[in-house]
Amino acid sequence: YPRLSIRDRVFKHKNYNFLVGHTTPEYIDSLESFEIKDSDVFVVTYPKSGTVWAQQIIISIHELHGNQNKYSNNMERMPWLEYKTAEYTLLPSPRLFASHLPEHIMPPGVKEKKILYLMRNPKDNVVSFYHFKCQITGCIMPLYSFASSWFDHVREWYLNREQYNILFLTYEEMILDLKASVKKICNFLGINLTEAAISQVVEKATFQNMKNDTKANYEHLSPERFSGKFLRKGQIGDWKNTLTVAQSERVDQVLQEKLGDLPLSFIWE
Ligand code: A3P
Repeated sequence: YPRLSIRDRVFKHKNYNFLVGHTTPEYIDSLESFEIKDSDVFVVTYPKSGTVWAQQIIISIHELHGNQNKYSNNMERMPWLEYKTAEYTLLPSPRLFASHLPEHIMPPGVKEKKILYLMRNPKDNVVSFYHFKCQITGCIMPLYSFASSWFDHVREWYLNREQYNILFLTYEEMILDLKASVKKICNFLGINLTEAAISQVVEKATFQNMKNDTKANYEHLSPERFSGKFLRKGQIGDWKNTLTVAQSERVDQVLQEKLGDLPLSFIWE
């Protein structure tokens, strides 16, 4: 993987870091007038919170609800809003989008639509991010050189939640009860599935199934760099194998400083 300097890899725009070559400041600015369609659905996450998992679930729900999925992979069916990979105005309805954008860059029209905001405890998030960075982009990149801080992302979305129709879900509750989480998502989307269909969604969204599902695991991006890497361990509490006690205490401290005033709690193991 070419060893580029940080400046060649990342640009800062509107107080957020984007990957060079994947989007431009002009495109990000154009999101202010991004035209929303009635049936649009959005999943918003801080990176490494289970985005590919949420994509697989939402795509399967729509597929079983009668929307044919003729797409060759999940990224095509549910692209990133901030990385324009197709002519989005031409996509058939319902359009499904994933995004890592902070609230202040989200197109204003999204306020009328449904957003699933998926979050993950910051210790497992940072460990997942660390492995992703090392394996995929080389360890030289500072951890949070794209996106922004996890704390800011969660805080901003949580504080502005009342302006949106938003369902907050955690990675941990999905691990602990995937079926209940799928049902929650269906209810939120106003989609009624039979018990059998819900079981099918759950089956397609298991870690093992997704690891082997080339549509879901982003293998198409670059088999040698990505193969299976989006699905590494898929567990709660792996941070205990990686973070030192001092690092873990530092996360606790920053969590208290940055989010201590909000009624958010996390499952750590
Ligand atoms: P780990 O690195 O801890 O394994 P994102 O899609 O936002 O990049 O998040 C990736 C993380 O979600 C990875 O965490 C990945 O394993 C986990 N993940 C993806 N699909 C999953 C699934 N079906 N079950 C459990 N975890 C899953």
